[in-house]
This record gives sequence, structure tokens and C-alpha cells, in this order.
Amino acid sequence: MKKVILFADTGIDDAMALIYALRNPDIDLLAVVSGYGNVEREKTYRNVEYLLDLAGRSDIPVISGATRPLNGEDPVFFPDIHGEEGLGPIQPPIPEERYANRSNFSKLFRIIKEDDPNEITIVNVGRCTSLAIAWYLNPEVMADVKQTYVMGGAFLVPGNATAVAEANFYGDAIAANYVCQHVPDLTVIPLNATREALLTPEDVDLIDARTDSPLLDIVEPILDFYYEVYQELEPGIEGTPQHDLAALVATLEIPRMFTYEKREVRVQHEESYANGLSIANFRPGSTDCSGDNCVRIAVDLNRALFANHVIEVLTNQRRR
Ligand code: BDR
Ligand code: CA
Repeated sequence: MKKVILFADTGIDDAMALIYALRNPDIDLLAVVSGYGNVEREKTYRNVEYLLDLAGRSDIPVISGATRPLNGEDPVFFPDIHGEEGLGPIQPPIPEERYANRSNFSKLFRIIKEDDPNEITIVNVGRCTSLAIAWYLNPEVMADVKQTYVMGGAFLVPGNATAVAEANFYGDAIAANYVCQHVPDLTVIPLNATREALLTPEDVDLIDARTDSPLLDIVEPILDFYYEVYQELEPGIEGTPQHDLAALVATLEIPRMFTYEKREVRVQHEESYANGLSIANFRPGSTDCSGDNCVRIAVDLNRALFANHVIEVLTNQRRR
């Protein structure tokens, strides 16, 4: 079983990653760190609690993460893509008590220390702020974590937040650059791979036809909403890109699903038109790097393998 701590800004594709983690017997979800990003932290936190509740897994700790990027500016949210509440048309119940929404990184460090850190994989599918803060605050504990996967970046392909920048790296370019430069054993899953991680309406129908739980019931409404949004953004796209789900699936290292290259990575974080741009040397003739600063970058994804795997896991059809 893979022990995972998920850093998310839930979000429709974050929700899909969380649902997948909860349905996959090969994943042991130790905690979710919930920060700002697609919507405000208060909403992402509530969305995680809601999904855990639907799954009957309220025992999984949720930790409040960051509320704004490291440059101190107000965050830019994306209700037009993820809905006002972050889950498309779903309005999760408003909790009776207001959550004690203070950032609580000591809880994160305790969870890591009390488990075997060398078996823990961190998967970051939101802005990199909370992950960078965790490293600033307690590098000793964080360095014991086995490996880290980050969804973010767009290498030599168009961005989705700006012409050149992907949304997670754009949302906090300082934190993204820090993580890419300092976090060891780092795998980055950028748009190069996740734009291929499509679930089509037919895939969604298959999942919906086999639903057996309130948690899986969520998939169809949120992905129908997401599909309408994407048809506006990229008319004719065959399905919805599951950026965050792809990063979680990548941790299972399924043969032939992802193609990787290793490079040093920098993220442009000075105020300019290129803010959030992810940079690596892919010039002709360039080769994999080695050494501490090298990041494994997913440059491609096998679309059919990905979709089949996800459908099998979500619908419990997978042969183990
Ligand atoms: C990333 O940005 C967010 O909007 C998504 O949840 C995903 O993490 C894709 O660029
Ligand atoms: Ca996300």
C-alpha cells in the first residue's frame, strides 16, 4: 500500500484525485492538507470534509494550509472553472460549526513523524505554497519523506492560466520555484502529460452506471459541469483533463503509462508577462540530468491506459 499525504485546493479535478484515493485499495491516504487555490481555503477545506464524509472516512485528518501566495498578494480564484463552491453544481452542506481554520502545520509534522516517513509519498495538486511553507518550517521532518509528486507546469506547451503558465505554478510562482529547486526525489506532472489525461463523457457514463456509493454519485454531476466549461475553453476537446488525478495515479508507477525525462527546473517568479513559466532545457541533444537538483518531468501520458485504469479503480473492476 502506498502511503499518501495529499496537498490539494479542492477543486473538481482535486475531488477526482481524492475520490480515486479513497476507492483505491493500493492507496492509504494519511491526511489531506487543504489550501487556497481554485477557491478559498475555507471552501476547499469544507469540500474535503464533505467528500470524506460521503466516503465514511471522516477519520482521515484534514489540515488547514495556506490562504495566499508567498508574495503576500491576494490570490486569484477560478469559480468560472470549478464553480462558486469548487465542486461545480454541488453545494456541500454548510458545517454547523465554523471550522477552526487556522493553519496547523504541526499536525502535519506529527503525522509524518508518527508514521514511517520513508514510506510516505506527498502529492501536491494545488498551489505549492503549503508545501513550501512546510519545508521552510521543518526541513528535518520533510527531508525524511520518501518522495514528492507535484502537479504543475507546462514545458514548451501553452499554459492554462496565461499563454505560458500553468495555474498551480502561476498561482504561487515563488513557492513553485522553491519546490522545484529544493525538494529532493521530486516528480513533476505538468500539462504536457495531464492534457492527455482525459475522461470522456462515455467514460463518465460507464462510471455512473456502476456507481455503488454516495461518493461515486458525485462524479457525474461534477464532470458534466467540468465538461461544459472545457467545451467553452477548448471547443471540441474529447473529454475533461484530469490534471490532479493524473498526478496521484503517477505515484503507482504503472508501466508505460507516463514517459519521463529528467531536467533541472526553474519557475519564472519575477513580475513579468512570463510569471509562472516553467523552464527546463529540452534543446535538441539535451539529455537526462543527474544530481540532487534533477526533477523527473512527465512529458507524455498514455491516454487509453490512464482512462481504463481510472475506470477500473473507481468502479472496483480491477483485478488485483
Ligand atoms: C491545476 O490547476 C487547478 O485549477 C487544477 O485543480 C489543477 O490542480 C491544473 O492546471
Ligand atoms: Ca488542484
